[in-house]
Amino acid sequence: MEETKKGRIEALLHEDRRFAPAESFTANANWKDPSIYEKASSDIFAFWEEMAQQIDWFKPWDKVFEGESPNFKWFSGAKTNVCYNCVDRHLTTWRKNKAAIIWEGEPRHSRRVLTYQDLYREVNRCAAAMKRLGVQKGDRVALYMGMIPELAISMLACARIGAPHTVVFGGFSPDALRDRINDCGAKMLITADGAWRRGNRVPLKENADEALKGCPTIDKVIVVNHCVDARDVEMEGYRDVWWHREMDRSGNTVVKPEELDAEHPLYILYTSGTTGKPKGLLHTTGGYLVGVHTTTKYVFDLKDNDTYWCAADIGWVTGHSYIVYGPLSNGATGVMYEGAPNHPHRGRFWQIIERNQVNILYTAPTAIRAFMAWGKEFPEQYDLSSLRLMGTVGEPINPEAWMWYREFIGGNKTPIVDTWWQTETGMTLITPLPGLVETKPGSATFPFPGIEADIVDESGETVPFGGGGYLVLKNPWPAMARTIWGDPERWYDQYWSRFPGMYFTGDSAKRDEDGYYWILGRVDDVLNVAGHRIGTMEVESALVSHPAVAEAAVIGISHAIKGQAIAAFTTLVSGIEGDKKLIEQLRQHVAEKIGPIARPEKLFLTHELPKTRSGKIMRRLLRDIAEGQIMSDTTTLADPGVLEQIKEQYEESGN
Ligand code: WT7
Repeated sequence: MEETKKGRIEALLHEDRRFAPAESFTANANWKDPSIYEKASSDIFAFWEEMAQQIDWFKPWDKVFEGESPNFKWFSGAKTNVCYNCVDRHLTTWRKNKAAIIWEGEPRHSRRVLTYQDLYREVNRCAAAMKRLGVQKGDRVALYMGMIPELAISMLACARIGAPHTVVFGGFSPDALRDRINDCGAKMLITADGAWRRGNRVPLKENADEALKGCPTIDKVIVVNHCVDARDVEMEGYRDVWWHREMDRSGNTVVKPEELDAEHPLYILYTSGTTGKPKGLLHTTGGYLVGVHTTTKYVFDLKDNDTYWCAADIGWVTGHSYIVYGPLSNGATGVMYEGAPNHPHRGRFWQIIERNQVNILYTAPTAIRAFMAWGKEFPEQYDLSSLRLMGTVGEPINPEAWMWYREFIGGNKTPIVDTWWQTETGMTLITPLPGLVETKPGSATFPFPGIEADIVDESGETVPFGGGGYLVLKNPWPAMARTIWGDPERWYDQYWSRFPGMYFTGDSAKRDEDGYYWILGRVDDVLNVAGHRIGTMEVESALVSHPAVAEAAVIGISHAIKGQAIAAFTTLVSGIEGDKKLIEQLRQHVAEKIGPIARPEKLFLTHELPKTRSGKIMRRLLRDIAEGQIMSDTTTLADPGVLEQIKEQYEESGN
C-alpha cells in the first residue's frame, strides 16, 4: 500500500506539471516584479525596514535588528501596539464601516458581522473589563474558546493592554488546559459555556472547572454565554463572571492602547515537541506584526475588496497570524467559521464561499483530502467562481490533492499557494508569490523574499539541488519566536544547537533540479495528525499514566485523510489481562488526557516492546510492522524473538 502510494507520487513528480500565474493575475498582483527577491536578499534589514513602514509606530526604532543566536531583537527602541494597528488605525479611513469579521456560526441560522468600528467598541469594552478585574500589563491571560468573535476580541483586548494571551485550542482536555495555564502562570481565563462542533456542544466551561481545580494563579474567569441558557451554567462564586454583564458594565469606556516596546510579549502559544511537555513559544510585538502583515499582503495578494477566509482554528498559530493579526492589520474582511466542514452537510464550506463570495481561501491538506473522499458533487452544487486565490498549510500536500483542489475548487485557474511555516516561525517562510512564481503541485516552491533557507546534511553542509536533507534557516526574520516561555535552554537546544548559526526546523526536505523545495515531514518524534502537531512522548506519557499500562511506544502510520495517524504499542502491568474493552479504555484515556485529536487510531497490547541492548525502544521496527514493510536492520535488538511475537499480535488484531 505504502509502496504504491510512493510510486504514484513519483509518477506525478515525473510529469513535472507546472502552472505559471495567468498574465491577468500577475498584472494586478501586489508584487509583480521578480527583482523583489534579489532586492530583499541583498539587504534583508533594509527590506524589513521598508516593510515596517506599513505599520504605525508610536516611536521609531533605533536598530532594525540586533542579537546573536539564540537571542534576537527586532526594531529595538520602537514602540507600537498590535491592537492599535489591527483596529484603531482603520477608523480614520473609509474602512471604519468595512466588515472586519464575518462570522458564520455552526448552527445554520447564526451569523454576525462586525465592522471595524464594532470591533473597536467590543475590544475596548473587553479591555476595560479585563483591567477592572485586575489584569495589568505583563499579566498572562488564557483563552479557551471555540471559534467565536469573542475569541478574536479577547486577543485584541489583551494586545491592547499588553497582557500576553495564551490561546488553548477548544479541543484540548482539562489536563492540557491546566498544564498550559500553570506553565505560563495565567491570572485570568476567558472561556465560554460551550462551542458548537458537528451539532454537539463541547463542554468548555465544565472542562475549565475541572482544570481550574489545579490552577492557583487564576483569579477570575470570564464566561461567554454562547450555547445554553445562562441559568443552566454553574458559576463559581467570586471567581466566575459573565462576559455580557462585564461588557455592559464597561459601557463605552475607551482604553488607551499601551505604547509597548517592540519586544513586549504578545502571546505564548503551546506546541508539541520531542518531550512529553508542550513548549510555550513566545512571540513579541513589533517584528511579529511586520512579518504577518507583510506575508498576508503579498502571499495572499490581499486587496481591500477581497473577502478572505482562513478556515483554520485560532487555537493554532495559523489562526493567530492569518485569521487575526495579519488580515486585521491589513484592514481586510475576513470570514470566521465556527464549526465542522460537514455540518449540517458536506457542502458547508462551499455554501459559505458562495454566500459570502469568498475570494481567497486558506485551508489544510487534510481537509482537502476529506473533501476529495466525499466527492466533487458537493462543491459542484455551489458557485465557487468568486475564488481567485487558494492556500494550503500544515503538512505536505500530495500532488493528487493539490490537483483536485485546483480542478474542483479553483476551476482550473485559481493559483495555489502552498505555504510552509511553523508555530516557531510565526509567519510563512517558504511559499510561492502568486503573481510571480510558477508552481508545481506538491512543492512549497521558494523562500519568501529575505528568507534564506537551505537543505543541509548531518554536518551542516549544503546538499546540492536534487538531494534531500535537513531544512534549516540561515537568516533571522522578524516574526520568529523569541524563546520558549520559562525555558531558554530548551529554546537553544531544540533549534539552535544542532547546526551552529542556523535555525533547525525539525523538518526534512528535498530540492529538485530547479531549486524548488519539497517538504518531506518531521525528522523528530513529532507527528502531524490531520495538520495537528502531536509529540509521541506526550501520547506515551498519557498512556503510562493509566494504571494498567507498564510501557508504551507511539508511532505515526500513514493515513489516507489525516496524513498520519497514531498507533500505540503498550505492555500491561503483570497480572492484568488485556481485552477489546481495555483497548477502548486506553484510547479513550488518551483522548481525555490530551484531547480527542490525540486518540490513537490503533492500539496494540503486546507482551514486550522491541528494545536495544541499552533499553531504548526501537520505534523504527514498530513502524515497519505497522506499515507492513520489510524489517530494517534488527541487529541491535536485544531479543529478536520479541518482534515475531508483536508481528503475530499485530496481524491477529486484523490489520
Ligand atoms: C510543521 C509545523 C504553520 C501552521 C500550521 C502548522 C508542517 C506546515 C507545511 C507545508 C509541508 C508543512 C511541517 C512543520 N508543515 N506547513 N506547507 N508543507 N509541511 O504549524 O503545528 O507548528 O507545525 O507542520 O512539518 O514543521 P505547526
